[in-house]
Amino acid sequence: MSVESTLPDWYPEGVVYDPTIAPDAYGPANARTLQCFSELSTSSNIVDVAGGYGRYAVPLAEAGYTVTLLDIDEAHLDQAELNALSLPEGAGSIKPIKRDVLKDDLSDFEPFDASLCTGFIYLAPEDVVQDLFAKMVSLTKPGGPVVIEFATDRIRRQTSDATSKSLIGRNETLYSYEQGLDLLRSLYKMIGGAVFSRSSVRLNQPYYLRSTVITAKGYAL
Ligand SMILES: C[S@@+](CC[C@H](N)C(=O)[O-])C[C@H]1O[C@@H](n2cnc3c(N)ncnc32)[C@H](O)[C@@H]1O
Repeated sequence: MSVESTLPDWYPEGVVYDPTIAPDAYGPANARTLQCFSELSTSSNIVDVAGGYGRYAVPLAEAGYTVTLLDIDEAHLDQAELNALSLPEGAGSIKPIKRDVLKDDLSDFEPFDASLCTGFIYLAPEDVVQDLFAKMVSLTKPGGPVVIEFATDRIRRQTSDATSKSLIGRNETLYSYEQGLDLLRSLYKMIGGAVFSRSSVRLNQPYYLRSTVITAKGYAL
């Protein structure tokens, strides 16, 4: 079964990930999001949910953490594996594992010290966001940070090259900044110490979009 046939119709992105065309398709890691983990000791282990090729797992492992990266797509996992092998000496580690984080039961994992989900769940309708948030909380030890990056106000730009089109999902969900923040607030009020920060992001090939990203952090109970 191809990975495309297992993906929901609100999800377009990543299916066409090709490291030879756009190796850094999702742009640089966001400093605000990385900052959320700075309180953890370097012996901590972090689960990166739908972690892709390791945009966050790489800097987190470089900072000394042990990162378990869950993703459904072989192309992303292959690149994550290569990135894991290229970590400098003395770094932590990245363990890429193939899992469908929406459909699979993830309760076989021992709880992690922290969890992260970026570049993914804001494409989904609210009920799916709620379910994944609950899974992330269950994957995280009490007192551990649960971090979500949520892109809102996504605006596709005109490309200078007329043959290039912005990659967009047929039924992807578009949250305004206010809608995204309301949803995150309603979720994070179920756990402790929620903080939200805001940043602007601009992506080139193959997305050609700009967005206002909310980084949400709270602590599992
Ligand atoms: C846009 S990428 C973002 C990757 C990474 N989190 C980042 O911020 O760079 C979205 C990722 O979600 C993965 N994905 C999509 N559906 C998934 C699912 N049901 N289970 C696990 N991963 C999934 C894709 O394969 C892709 O790697």
